[in-house]
Amino acid sequence: MYSHIQRFFAKFPKIELGDITLRDLMLSDKGGYFDMMSHPEGVQYLSDEDIPQSVEDAESEIKYWGGLFYKRHSIFWAIADSDDKFIGTIGYNNWNFHNKRAEISYDLMHTHWRKGIMTKVLRNVIIFSFKTMDLNRIEARTMEGNIASQKLLEKVGFKYEGTQRGYRIIRGKPENIRLYSVLKQDYATFLND
Ligand SMILES: CC(C)(COP(=O)(O)OP(=O)(O)OC[C@H]1O[C@@H](n2cnc3c(N)ncnc32)[C@H](O)[C@@H]1OP(=O)(O)O)[C@@H](O)C(=O)NCCC(=O)NCCS
Repeated sequence: MYSHIQRFFAKFPKIELGDITLRDLMLSDKGGYFDMMSHPEGVQYLSDEDIPQSVEDAESEIKYWGGLFYKRHSIFWAIADSDDKFIGTIGYNNWNFHNKRAEISYDLMHTHWRKGIMTKVLRNVIIFSFKTMDLNRIEARTMEGNIASQKLLEKVGFKYEGTQRGYRIIRGKPENIRLYSVLKQDYATFLND
């Protein structure tokens, strides 16, 4: 493994954003995670196998996503409010060290939607990733119908690259996916300070 990547995995990077903190996932987040993943509108674009059916399932998912950092595969943060209460997640499903690219995903509890939280979180994670993770390209995939996610991506500077036909099977039906990316050069003005 590249030495700068090894250094990255030495200590979990907590990110303080004023009223929001990005921190390590904890087993005590399982109730919040389950609530988030039980909201029909919030999970309509996920396949059933990604939706926990119980708090125990939620715990397994938290162990999986939280474990990616300690296995030195990738990183997932819990999004926590000013009382350190879990309100969402953001992180990279996979990280290709050689090609300096990773695919981001994010979810927020429905009680916190449309308050600008993910705009702030995503912008800061992008800046952090280009500065600290040595990424050159961040990818995002959204289902065609997920307008909120697409507008969010475009708002923080992602560019639409095309549609991948029948990319995911959701409840038995092949669904088209919109692929987005943002490159380090697109964020140059934010990376100088
Ligand atoms: C997508 C999601 C993360 C957005 O988070 P959020 O904190 O509510 O987003 P923001 O408040 O920062 O909004 C950013 C922009 O997204 C768009 N947007 C957000 N929610 C929207 C909605 N319900 N309908 C239409 N546009 C929406 C708007 O353009 C908004 O900018 P504006 O407020 O200046 O108009 C949130 O809706 C969510 O968790 N959805 C379910 C899970 C999901 O779809 N995850 C992504 C899978 S790819």
